[in-house]
Amino acid sequence: MYLLKYGSISAAIVVGLYAVLIGLLTTSNFQAHVVYLHKIQMTWFKDLNVPEGFGFLRNQVTPFSINSPSGEKLYAWHILPVELYRHNEAVLLSESSGFASDFTKKHAFKLLRDDADALLVIHMHGAAGTVGSGYRVPNYRALSAGKPDKIHVLTFDYGGFGRSRGQPTERSVCLDAVTVVHWALRVANVPPSRIIIFGQSLGTAVSLAVAEHFALQSPPIVFAGHVLVAPFVDVATLMATYKVAGTIPLLSPVANIPPFFNYLKRYIRDHWSSKDRIADYIHANEANGEKYQITIIHAEDDYDIPWTHSKELYWHAVNATRAAGVSPGELEEVMDDGKKCLGPAGTVFEWKTENGAIREEILKTGLHDVIMGNPIVTLAVMRIFTAVNPDIGTREG
Ligand SMILES: *[C@@H]1O[C@H](CO)[C@@H](O)[C@H](O)[C@H]1NC(C)=O
Repeated sequence: MYLLKYGSISAAIVVGLYAVLIGLLTTSNFQAHVVYLHKIQMTWFKDLNVPEGFGFLRNQVTPFSINSPSGEKLYAWHILPVELYRHNEAVLLSESSGFASDFTKKHAFKLLRDDADALLVIHMHGAAGTVGSGYRVPNYRALSAGKPDKIHVLTFDYGGFGRSRGQPTERSVCLDAVTVVHWALRVANVPPSRIIIFGQSLGTAVSLAVAEHFALQSPPIVFAGHVLVAPFVDVATLMATYKVAGTIPLLSPVANIPPFFNYLKRYIRDHWSSKDRIADYIHANEANGEKYQITIIHAEDDYDIPWTHSKELYWHAVNATRAAGVSPGELEEVMDDGKKCLGPAGTVFEWKTENGAIREEILKTGLHDVIMGNPIVTLAVMRIFTAVNPDIGTREG
């Protein structure tokens, strides 16, 4: 009797709390905190201006800021690859360390700007945290590991994250990312053919917004390529599949009631429609005859964003390569034929056109973020850089 009574009371409480949560989700402020998690810094007890505390060599990382058009300062890290560091160790050690109020005066900056062969990965991080959080640090190492005398990494916090002030919205985050890319092009003077944009999780959506923005300029600006780790289709699809801590489905009970879910979708403020942006980007490049390279990487054991998001996004990308589109059935047939099965390493498939290559790598393991520090990321970067600049792989630096 008692058990039944208390059982139903707690069930009622759970249902009540759930209803409150759904209600809160319709408010844009709460939504922003759920989508961006920008107040969860994860590096509370460390100083981002002391990169040595994150495992870097003295002056391997230069913290500095980039002025955004809105007048805010975006907090950034420039990370030197380790061989380049070694060749310049004496000069680097002779400089002061910590935050650089004028990065252009630093030796590290000159190594980037004045080397006509320097390569740059611009890094767009995911939700929560800062440039120094979690698997982002091993991620930076993996990005430059293929050419440790050439590949610089530039990473930054969107306004509202870490030391960058503001409140994140889709518009502000995209503007921030475009600002950082402009800095690389105009201040550091790195041409687009020597730039890869890397994104993980939320950062993939930012990276595709950047890709679309620049590809639609006249004349178009197209980067060497894009590496997307654990992307998602759009926020609505993400909400329907998202599981808190990988186990508790947040909205999938509601997503099973389409009229109610469609009603809730009207309250989504920031849509982050990567499926549309990837299609626009590819349409534009095919129409303009611009070369492009996209690599999508996702692990099957990703509990935060199910790998089926990559499958769907991939189809949207391939569909955009032809004026008449490519039906999901047609793609499936081609993939059944052409997909490489690498056993426990997963599967690889590449769709090629005269202009572009769209690659999908589905790993068996790697979770949502551990994957970022793995050699698969190193190889993806090298594959793109060498496809666009064939002499990179052979020339000694
Ligand atoms: C697939 O591509 C075709 C041709 O560009 C387009 O008309 C169609 O809307 C695309 N499908 C989706 C779901 O985006």
